[in-house]
Amino acid sequence: MSKTIGLISGDGIGPEITEATLLVLKEVAPDFKYIDLDLGGVAIDKTGSPFPDETKAKLKEVDAVLMAAIGGPQYDNLPRDKRPETGLLALRKELQTFANIRPARVFDSLANLSSLKPEIVRGTDLVVVRELTGGIYFGQPSSNDGNRALNTMVYEKSEVTRIAHVAFCLARKRSKRLCSVDKSNVLNVSQLWRDAVIEVSKDYPDVELSHMYVDNAAMQLIKDPKQFDVIVTSNLFGDILSDESAMLTGSIGLLPSASTGDGSLPGLYEPVHGSAPDIAGQGLANPIAMVLSAAMMLRLSFDMSKEAAILEAAVEAVLAQGILTGDLGGTAKTKDVSEALVVEVKLALTNA
Ligand code: IPM
Ligand code: MG
Repeated sequence: MSKTIGLISGDGIGPEITEATLLVLKEVAPDFKYIDLDLGGVAIDKTGSPFPDETKAKLKEVDAVLMAAIGGPQYDNLPRDKRPETGLLALRKELQTFANIRPARVFDSLANLSSLKPEIVRGTDLVVVRELTGGIYFGQPSSNDGNRALNTMVYEKSEVTRIAHVAFCLARKRSKRLCSVDKSNVLNVSQLWRDAVIEVSKDYPDVELSHMYVDNAAMQLIKDPKQFDVIVTSNLFGDILSDESAMLTGSIGLLPSASTGDGSLPGLYEPVHGSAPDIAGQGLANPIAMVLSAAMMLRLSFDMSKEAAILEAAVEAVLAQGILTGDLGGTAKTKDVSEALVVEVKLALTNA
């Protein structure tokens, strides 16, 4: 299948994990074409803008966007609208990727790497469905005059309804349990959220819906993560809970994500982790989160489930072989992991 991928190598470890991911991805999708897109720090260095017009224009030529990571300490003192993160938020808004899907699965061979007891995390397999283009991240008014600062948490009912449908559909394909996380004991926005989710639930009588306050959810995630299957929540709560869920697995270096909209624009696929400037340029980064993000792209944007499953099985095999980067307590280099993944993928393709 010939598709055009917009590739954002980004900052820090971004270029290294991109190179590693392409090595693996090319095995299962040799016909893909790639267009480099500048976003974040590298875009600021070249043009002064974290989301240059040229990048925006090139989005029209791509079928999906695969991104590594952006940002770095050298940009910390820039005004907010000039920072790398602002570029990412603008990209999400541009592609109208309102649904951010962040799976967190504890690989059996790595259960002992979690900071929690292995018996608590073993078997954890959950997905956070995070609303990504609304809520307090984008609500207006928003200001800071040095004495008083203001953000607005706002949701339209239609925004809640559409993310709820995504979550219910996903829950239907998994264990048919959905937990909606809010703070409706305090926030008006959360009351609207809860009411709208309950309304949508009438279309999914086969899915069991539960509700949890966000503070309790944060606690339950470390107390008994296996109780969760699909979690649906707002932008800010999802940002926090998805990092917490990621850490259950032992390393945030393993967690992929997909950001999708209604299907009319390219989806955006990126690791949950950041650009790790402390280890950049040393060949030490774990490329697995980006490889798994590529697998999500194959499955969700291109319906290439077979190829996606080959990448996922290769990851599982390589982890089980103990080829682990530093974040997983090993000494393997980025290259060791990508080469081992290529071997596994080639094997799977010959046996297919
Ligand atoms: C994430 C990140 C971003 C977010 C930042 C970099 C803007 O933390 O993707 O979770 O808050 O959404
Ligand atoms: Mg985050």
